[in-house]
Amino acid sequence: MTTAQSRPSTPSQGTRTAARQQCLDADCAAVYPVSQVLVSCPKCGGLLDVDYDWAGPRPEWSTFERRALTKGPRRMAGGEATTAAIDFSGVWRFREIMPFFEREDQIVTIGEGRTNLQKADHLACELGFDLSGGGELFLQYEGFNPSGSFKDNGMAAAFTHARMVGAKRVACASTGNTSASLAVYGALTGMKCFVFIGDGKIAYGKLSQALEYGATTLQVAGDFDACLARIRHIAEKMPEVGVYLMNSVNPFRLEGQKAIMCRVLEGLDWEVPDWIVVPGGNLGNCSAFGKAFIELKHLGLIDRVPRLAVIQAEGSSTLDRIYNQHGVRFEPVKDGDGPTLRGRWDHAKVEAEYTRMDTAGERAKTVATAIEINRPVNLVKSLRALQAMNGVVRTVTDAEIVEHKALVGRWGFGCEPASGASVAGIRKLIKEGVIKPGERVVGILTGHVLKDPDVTVAYHTGIDTKAAAVDLSKARPAGKWSNPPVKVADDLDAILKAMGVN
Ligand code: F0G
Repeated sequence: MTTAQSRPSTPSQGTRTAARQQCLDADCAAVYPVSQVLVSCPKCGGLLDVDYDWAGPRPEWSTFERRALTKGPRRMAGGEATTAAIDFSGVWRFREIMPFFEREDQIVTIGEGRTNLQKADHLACELGFDLSGGGELFLQYEGFNPSGSFKDNGMAAAFTHARMVGAKRVACASTGNTSASLAVYGALTGMKCFVFIGDGKIAYGKLSQALEYGATTLQVAGDFDACLARIRHIAEKMPEVGVYLMNSVNPFRLEGQKAIMCRVLEGLDWEVPDWIVVPGGNLGNCSAFGKAFIELKHLGLIDRVPRLAVIQAEGSSTLDRIYNQHGVRFEPVKDGDGPTLRGRWDHAKVEAEYTRMDTAGERAKTVATAIEINRPVNLVKSLRALQAMNGVVRTVTDAEIVEHKALVGRWGFGCEPASGASVAGIRKLIKEGVIKPGERVVGILTGHVLKDPDVTVAYHTGIDTKAAAVDLSKARPAGKWSNPPVKVADDLDAILKAMGVN
């Protein structure tokens, strides 16, 4: 365990940290202004980062701590931000770590990120930790966000960018939580929201949120990957529709998700833990964590980085195969004095695995629908995180996921199935001897227990409540504010018609 370094504060020299978007592929490394709305690098199609020159004064942990004590007054959530509102936010009180905005009044906040790092001794004993030998397990409850999942961290940042560029319509494909989060922010900022969900692939807790918050919800006949391909096409290739994409391929989302790691460090009094363990779906979260630690180390706010474990469901394990079976690694390439974010990797091996999956007709399937994803969009960024954090990738079965979800509930605040993967992964890694029983481990619980009540009820009663589910398109809601989902074929014209934009 290492204590974060403390340095004297640097007086402001009147300089401001400049931000840009940059392709992470070292062979491209194209640069674009922050003001440009992009889904991927126009030059090579690669993933973009938000990069900084870090010329501003060095941030201090004490500044962030002080802001957490803010009292108010508060204004309307999502409205024009006040200093009190952004200090209250568990994302924006770390704003010097994500300084892509031009002015603080552009910032969007709804009070996200007031989450909770809890020591979990009972669970630690059950999982095989050696408490008397210094072993410690902490759980980071991201389900305490306004929409009930970690997504609000990223959505606050992406909506801030959307506001900066004057977006009026925002959209996402989702396994549920992104849509719930998008819909809350859309309702509070007044941006028109479109949500694409796979047919029958969403937990009702999450679907109910998107409907309640007024998003236009398209239930596309296909899975998450099909939904993302459709909305990416509309956002990227049809500028006339004017849709701003809110999935984690949007690099501004990941800037906000870096705050989760700041709060973990804060909860440990700025001591770096030995391990961060997180479920992996579209791989945005682990990618954001990797970038956070690369940058915090560069800034001198920490003097070492924790190890990373990404846990996938056995039935949805593309990263596991690419990392463990095919041995694909991110090779960092230094390009200047800043943190090393660009690199190279074996493109052909990744493509070969995707082709193999398609040829075999292999589709992701897991009880943890949040992480049921075939082609994770942030794959390469997750490889960068694994490289920077000396990481490992493991899979756990659906049975292990629901078992460990129940264990969290038995001794804590509870979590949804995908988050149970973190805890199942910790047990597996302790058994393997990779995590030592005397180490300090932080498991990220990404979503609230109430997100997927069907899985919980089925586990505790044996009753499959989803079997009684009706075809939503046949239902006839009668409420004044009823906002039923629109069932639509996986077809561009039909989708544009359902969005009301053609
Ligand atoms: N846990 C929960 C509860 C999630 O909702 C997700 C992703 C993940 C873990 C995986 O995170 O994609 O950053 O690796 N849900 C997305 C969605 C895909 O659409 O809500 P990731």
